[in-house]
Amino acid sequence: MGRSLKYDIPGIDPRVSPSDVAERGWIGLFARLRAGYDEAFAGLHPGVSPTGDADRDRVLEIGFGRGEFLLGLASAAPDTDFIGLEISFKRTLKMARKVARAGLRNVLLMETPAEVAIRGCFAADELAEVWINFSDPWPKARHAPRRLIQPDFVAELARVLAPGGALHVATDDVPYAHQIDAVLTDAKTLENALAPWPFVGEVAGRSITGYEAQWREQSRPLHFFEYRRRVGDGSVSVGGRA
Ligand SMILES: C[S@@+](CC[C@H](N)C(=O)[O-])C[C@H]1O[C@@H](n2cnc3c(N)ncnc32)[C@H](O)[C@@H]1O
Repeated sequence: MGRSLKYDIPGIDPRVSPSDVAERGWIGLFARLRAGYDEAFAGLHPGVSPTGDADRDRVLEIGFGRGEFLLGLASAAPDTDFIGLEISFKRTLKMARKVARAGLRNVLLMETPAEVAIRGCFAADELAEVWINFSDPWPKARHAPRRLIQPDFVAELARVLAPGGALHVATDDVPYAHQIDAVLTDAKTLENALAPWPFVGEVAGRSITGYEAQWREQSRPLHFFEYRRRVGDGSVSVGGRA
């Protein structure tokens, strides 16, 4: 199924059973995004959430892929709201089914590029955590500018994180790990929670993503970064929101 179908489907995608996704906030977002990104952002506003309850912590996963990691997080923390961002229409549809079948009411999915959504859909200081697991490494040097972790994007992530909030980034690609290290180190409002190490190769208790399972089978080196948004005076309250 090619991505060209994206804007051809009238209403809700016919491959998704209405009973699977009925009454989900996802439907509303999908319906708006379907028409095109410019129009979509006229209808979106900072503060998107699956429950609309501003008192609940909100956690974002960017590029959830097949969604195993996000499903695990959301099942384990029903009192927290989770937002999943994906650029792939097909993956968003498949994940919507999984969320509906799991009966999770604390997940909202958005099919839109993270670089666009992060500017339009999140207010300053509003996210408790952001997870970016194994975003595409674009291994050829000339394609490095296409990698997600870039200074401007990280500045936007730091803006939407609450003081003390955590940014988790993982990659299996060594050149990309160097780029991530350099960009995160340069981000003035973030502090490395793993210092003096730039990253670690294992994180106890962390669940494994779909791509990560493949990389582990191939014995690829894993790099897990964790940064925290600085609190006003430059210090970081590791382990919770300020
Ligand atoms: C290599 S896969 C990793 C998937 C998953 N995080 C995992 O670890 O199994 C990267 C995912 O990011 C998505 N993606 C790529 N660029 C993106 C962007 N700009 N915004 C949101 N998602 C993106 C892709 O569609 C893909 O599902």
